Amino acid sequence: MNSFTYSFPVKVYFGEGAAQRALPVELAKVGKKVMLAYGFGSIKKNGVYEEITGLLKAAGKEIVEFPGIMPNPTYAKALEGAALAKKEGVDFVLAVGGGSVLDCCKVIAAQAGMEEDIWDLGNEGQKALDHSRFLPAGCVLTAFGTGAEMNNGAVITNEEKKIKDDVFSAFFDFVILDPKHTMSTPLKQVMTGSFDTLSHCLESYMGEPRYVNLTDEMNEACMRNIIRSMRATLKDPEDLFIRSELIWDSGMAETGVFKIGKKTDFQAHMLEHQLGAYTDCSHGQGLAVIHPVMYQHMVKEAEVQFARLAEVVWGVDPAGRTRAQMAQAFVDQIAAFVKEVGLPSTFRELGIPEDTDYRAIADSTLLTGGCPRKFDREELYQILLECR
Ligand code: NZQ
Ligand code: ZN
Repeated sequence: MNSFTYSFPVKVYFGEGAAQRALPVELAKVGKKVMLAYGFGSIKKNGVYEEITGLLKAAGKEIVEFPGIMPNPTYAKALEGAALAKKEGVDFVLAVGGGSVLDCCKVIAAQAGMEEDIWDLGNEGQKALDHSRFLPAGCVLTAFGTGAEMNNGAVITNEEKKIKDDVFSAFFDFVILDPKHTMSTPLKQVMTGSFDTLSHCLESYMGEPRYVNLTDEMNEACMRNIIRSMRATLKDPEDLFIRSELIWDSGMAETGVFKIGKKTDFQAHMLEHQLGAYTDCSHGQGLAVIHPVMYQHMVKEAEVQFARLAEVVWGVDPAGRTRAQMAQAFVDQIAAFVKEVGLPSTFRELGIPEDTDYRAIADSTLLTGGCPRKFDREELYQILLECR
C-alpha cells in the first residue's frame, strides 16, 4: 500500500430525529447569529424548515436567512452569501439542502472569514489557507449522493470563466443525516444522486494501485450496496431502511476511506463538470451518460479492474469467459443499469442543446493522472460526440 496520512474531522449525527439530538448540543458552542441557507423552497414544503427554525429559536439564535441557492451553485451566489454573512456579523452557517446548498455554504463560510478571493487563490494557494479564520458551519442533508456532507470539496460554477471546479474549503463541523429529511426528494433525484455515489466509488477504484487491496475491497462492498439499494428503492421508494443505506453510501464514498493509499481517476467527473459549466445539466445524470461511453474507450487499459468488477460487484459468472469478455461485460452492465434505473443514456435525453460547444468543453477539461487510459482532449471530444 502507498503511504498516506488520514484524519476525518466531521461529527456525524445519523438517523431519525438526528436534528433534535444534534442542534441543542452543537448550537451551544457557537455565537448568536446563525445563517440559515437553503435552496428554492423544498424545505418549506416538507416540514424541514419548520423543524430546523424551531430548534434554532429554542436555542436562542437570531436567524439570518439566505435562500435561493440554485442547483449547480454559482460562485457569484456564494460571494453574495459571504457578503451578507460579513454585513450581518454571522457567527455560524447552517446549510439545509442537497449538494448544491452544501457546496455553496462551504464557500460562504470560507470566504466570509477572509479578504482574498478564494477562487483566485487556486488549489495551490488554498493549501496555505488559515482555516481557523473560516466561519464554523454545519449541515442538514435533504438530498444525498454528492458526498459533500463528508468531504472538504465544494464544486462551484464560475459563470464568468465558464469553469466548474472544486474549491477546497473546509469540512463541516457536524452533519445531520436524517433519512426522513430526504423522503420528499423525487425518485429521479434519488436515482441521480445514487448514481453519483456509484460514480465516486468507481472513480476512486479505477486509480492506482490496480492490484487488489483493502481500500478497494471495502469500496466493492459499498458498490454492491448501492446497486442493491437503488433496485430496492425502485420497488419501494418509501422504505426508510433502504434510504438510510443509500445516504450512508453517499457519505462513505467521500470520507476519503476509498481513496486511502490510492491515486484516483475522476476523469469522468472532470468532463462532466465542464459539461455542467456549459449547459447547467444535472451532475449525476451527466455522469450516467458519460460513464458507459468513456469506459468503452478504456476497456483495454482497465481490463483487470473491469473484469473484477463484473464478477464481484455485478455478479457476472466468469466461467467460460475470457478476461477481456468479463471487462466488456462490466461496461455493458453499467450501460444497462443506467437504463434500468431510469436515467438518461444520451445528451439528447438529458436535454442538452444540439449546438452545445463540445470542443470548448473538451478543451477546458482537466486531464487526470490516475485514469487507466491517458485521454487527450481530442479523444474527450470524441467521447462527448458519442454521448449525443
Ligand atoms: O432547491 P430546492 O427547492 O431545495 O430543490 C432541490 C433541487 O432542485 C431538490 N431537493 C433537495 N432536497 C429535496 C429536494 N426536493 C424535494 N425534497 C427534498 N428533500 O433537489 C434538486 C437538486 O438538488 P442539488 O443539491 O442540486 O442536488 P445534488 O445533491 O445532486 O447536488 C449536485 C451538486 O453537487 C456537486 C454537483 O456538481 C452539483 O453542483 N457535487 C459536489 C461534490 C462535492 N462537494 O464533493 C462532488 C460531486 O461529484 C458533485 O460534483
Ligand atoms: Zn459526483
